[in-house]
Amino acid sequence: MSKWTAKQTGYMKEALRLARQGWGLVSPNPMVGAVLVKRGRVLAKNWHSGPGQLHAEAAVLAEAGRKAAGAELYVNLEPCAHHGRTGPCVEAIIEAKVAKVFYSVPDPHAVAAGGARLLEDAGVEVDRGLLADEAWELNQFFFKWATTGVPFVILKTAASLDGKIATSSGDSRWISSKAARNFGHHIRAGVDAILIGRNTACKDDPELSARPWGRRKMHRQPRRVVLDPALKLPFDLKLFDPALGGPTTVVCAPEAPTAAKEELRRLGHVVMEAPKLPSGFLSLSTVVNELGQSGCQSVLIEPGATLASSALLEEPVVDLVHIFLAPMFLGGRDAPGLLGGPGLAALNLARAAEILKIGRKGPDVHIMVRPNGAFKPSDDARSPWQPEPPAAAQ
Ligand SMILES: NC(=O)c1ccc[n+]([C@@H]2O[C@H](COP(=O)([O-])OP(=O)(O)OC[C@H]3O[C@@H](n4cnc5c(N)ncnc54)[C@H](OP(=O)(O)O)[C@@H]3O)[C@@H](O)[C@H]2O)c1
Repeated sequence: MSKWTAKQTGYMKEALRLARQGWGLVSPNPMVGAVLVKRGRVLAKNWHSGPGQLHAEAAVLAEAGRKAAGAELYVNLEPCAHHGRTGPCVEAIIEAKVAKVFYSVPDPHAVAAGGARLLEDAGVEVDRGLLADEAWELNQFFFKWATTGVPFVILKTAASLDGKIATSSGDSRWISSKAARNFGHHIRAGVDAILIGRNTACKDDPELSARPWGRRKMHRQPRRVVLDPALKLPFDLKLFDPALGGPTTVVCAPEAPTAAKEELRRLGHVVMEAPKLPSGFLSLSTVVNELGQSGCQSVLIEPGATLASSALLEEPVVDLVHIFLAPMFLGGRDAPGLLGGPGLAALNLARAAEILKIGRKGPDVHIMVRPNGAFKPSDDARSPWQPEPPAAAQ
């Protein structure tokens, strides 16, 4: 039986619902929602709407004013203890004389963590762990990047029921339904970078922009990244259109022609070098790590069969897979399947995976998969709050 009441769970559910409104707006910050409650009445609720804006806790405290004294605060992340672009939330909570703080998961960020301890030291009651799994999942990009420096990597692909991602002539637009593609744009809107291989760039000529349905405002477009080992992509592709705004990052082998690298830089794009693996492909872990170092917390791979095989089997970098299966058959010996590459020689070498969800997006089946070895919540992040034992007397 849960140690929390249905009402307490409901308040945290509401905090999580509010936090979700920050999807695509708050990076590099986490998505946070807060609900302030006193004697069973909601005094204020709010969410963090982006860098430099009030944190959710500060926003509800400002709205409630002096009424916040003696209230309970529900927030999906441990209140921060640091002076960033805004003041520390723990100070505001203590000053407002909030009686109790319920938070779902600890802040893993080295600079912002430690808020719960400060609150306890100041006499504020603290309760950790309410809806911890949901809260962890909501901010998994932020948690992975803050604890490892490596972005959370999502792979999204669409196939026919017989597993083909294109016809034998390379036609893939559109296999998935409008509903699935809208969901794809929703994912794009929430990530920091989108990565594709050179064949997809040539065949599909995508813009790689996020155009989420119903969303008028975008905080910023994700960074466009394309793998082009020998720098042979033509500059008339949409990816290089200056009207899109911002540079495209082109990843190449160190031995790619210097003149091509210089030309890309002259056009305002970014050239990233990555070593070649024995297969001749570029090292994806190098690419992903470099993106992490430049502040990307999440990367969406929209692969052809070749890149999908690299990212899932050759050099596994993927944390979450979205597969859309459209109600059609394409067939064709030469039509690419979900994964290309040489494949595995024996079943016991298969990369196992956990199916997290099977649902529908319009007429398509939507399968969400976590490959084994992907980033997962640590038990520590999800366990209930345990005060540290007092330090032994010297
Ligand atoms: N249904 C869908 O969801 C979907 C999504 C995307 C694309 N597609 C379709 O997929 C087809 C293209 O797929 P594809 O398999 O031919 O190519 P791809 O995966 O788009 O690109 C593969 C190429 O990228 C370069 N590359 C560099 N590093 C790599 C790495 N680590 N792993 C893999 N590739 C790397 C290589 O270029 P070099 O050859 O220069 O070495 C490689 O040949 C198109 O028909 C497109 O329409 C379908």
